[in-house]
Amino acid sequence: MATPENKLAFDDGWQYSPAPESTDHIKVKKRYGLFIDGNFLAPEKGRYFDTINPATEEKLSRVALASEADVDKAVKAARKAYGKWSRIKPAERGKYIYRIARIMQERAREFAAIESLDGGKPIRESRDIDVPLAAAHFFYYAGWADKLEYAFPGRKVRPLGVAGQVIPWNFPLLMAAWKLAPALACGNTVVLKPAETTPLTALKLAEVVRDAGLPDGVVNIVTGAGETGAAVVGHPGVDKVAFTGSTEVGRVIMKALAGTGKKYTLELGGKAANIVFADAAIDQAVEGIVNGIFFNQGHVCCAGSRLFVQESVADEVIQKLKDRMETLIVGDPLDKNTDIGAINSARQLETIERYLAIGQEEGGTMYQSSCKVPKEGYWCRPTIFTGVSQSNRVVQEEIFGPVLAIQTFRTFDEALTKANNTPYGLSGGVWTDKGAKIFRMTQSVRAGVIWANTFNKFDPTSPFGGYKESGVGREGGLHGLDAYLRLEA
Ligand code: NAI
Ligand code: MG
Repeated sequence: MATPENKLAFDDGWQYSPAPESTDHIKVKKRYGLFIDGNFLAPEKGRYFDTINPATEEKLSRVALASEADVDKAVKAARKAYGKWSRIKPAERGKYIYRIARIMQERAREFAAIESLDGGKPIRESRDIDVPLAAAHFFYYAGWADKLEYAFPGRKVRPLGVAGQVIPWNFPLLMAAWKLAPALACGNTVVLKPAETTPLTALKLAEVVRDAGLPDGVVNIVTGAGETGAAVVGHPGVDKVAFTGSTEVGRVIMKALAGTGKKYTLELGGKAANIVFADAAIDQAVEGIVNGIFFNQGHVCCAGSRLFVQESVADEVIQKLKDRMETLIVGDPLDKNTDIGAINSARQLETIERYLAIGQEEGGTMYQSSCKVPKEGYWCRPTIFTGVSQSNRVVQEEIFGPVLAIQTFRTFDEALTKANNTPYGLSGGVWTDKGAKIFRMTQSVRAGVIWANTFNKFDPTSPFGGYKESGVGREGGLHGLDAYLRLEA
């Protein structure tokens, strides 16, 4: 076999080629097995499930459904590989992770197209955000592999063992990278379960892991739905659990882990306040509102789904927002001009439509842009609610769709009180010309990430995570290492 090095053309940046004009070159197999111990294996019980393209409802592939016995096999492979992986020279470990990043860059076009096909997100986003950021996470954590003792001066650092990781469907490849990169850099081995509607880029990533020459069993990928996820979380051979998904399942996982001594991180839902003061640059703020809620169809845990506008500029902001919404193109995720792609699944569309009905029943005024949407597939036009109040469900609950609840405020304190009146605490945004207001607001809003005069900006060096019902622990940056290490005196 050719060594990974001579198969690769190394380049330094994490920019890459333009979007595919056609998807003919995209290789999606008719059927995928489970990636266990370095090979794609048939599931023990021979069961498979379909993954579809939510923009057309066409079947893309059949994917293995992992049973408890398959998960057990994957955990045992990871355990066996741990002996080797945790002991190889840290700089060597780093090289493998750099290789994953580089191969991912080389296959970026394919990754972007498959991400958009399987999950419905616009190709512009998968091409410019998801895939490069995923590669950046591997580059970033590769660099830490041989510097861990400098990250925690005076402490001895040890890996935890086998990490069981369960990820959602809104950023399938990026979440896989968030989970795998720090776990591997710290010397752990992994059993990862992708979401059932979007397994394909994780399976492509399994091919990358194999082509990068990682020892067998260091990364195992088991596909399936909630039961498979529960089998990963509950397996006694798993030493650490990392989960991103709904607050509801997060609670179930916390209960399952209570008393087991397993370390865990949970990244759950959100209902972020995006606060626009009268002294903000209004046109930029409107762009930020649009990006905050309509990015990735609003399937974003840190989406700016509650807008608070200072009363004196509310009419202007809302009118400009409506005008801007009219220009947004909803449709084919593979079209480079598309702004809003398909809703990820029929189930998620049902949830969103239920909230549209609830918002109106509660007395809110719903406004949707007048754009056309395709006949087949799952779609939701960009939507805003005005005339809503703090007690409304569309203001309190995570909708996870392109639906914005708008309220007004008069004073700084009123905005702050309203912003913090939520069970969630993941993210927030503030738009103002005054630095002092930025400092006061960012220190007083109870949320893990707060953007000032921007929104939904991500970087591997920056920690991410929530307070309250938004989760436990931090991912990304230096903090993201802590989640995969045992620190000794
Ligand atoms: P979910 O929490 O059920 O799914 C996330 C992942 O957890 C998937 O891989 C799923 O197979 C797995 N899972 C489900 N049940 C499990 C269990 N008992 N044990 C272990 N793993 C399990 O989320 P769902 O139902 O797809 O979406 C429902 C709502 O959750 C959304 O409307 C949204 O509000 C929220 N959500 C939040 C996400 C975030 O990024 N924080 C991501 C996805 C959903
Ligand atoms: Mg799919």
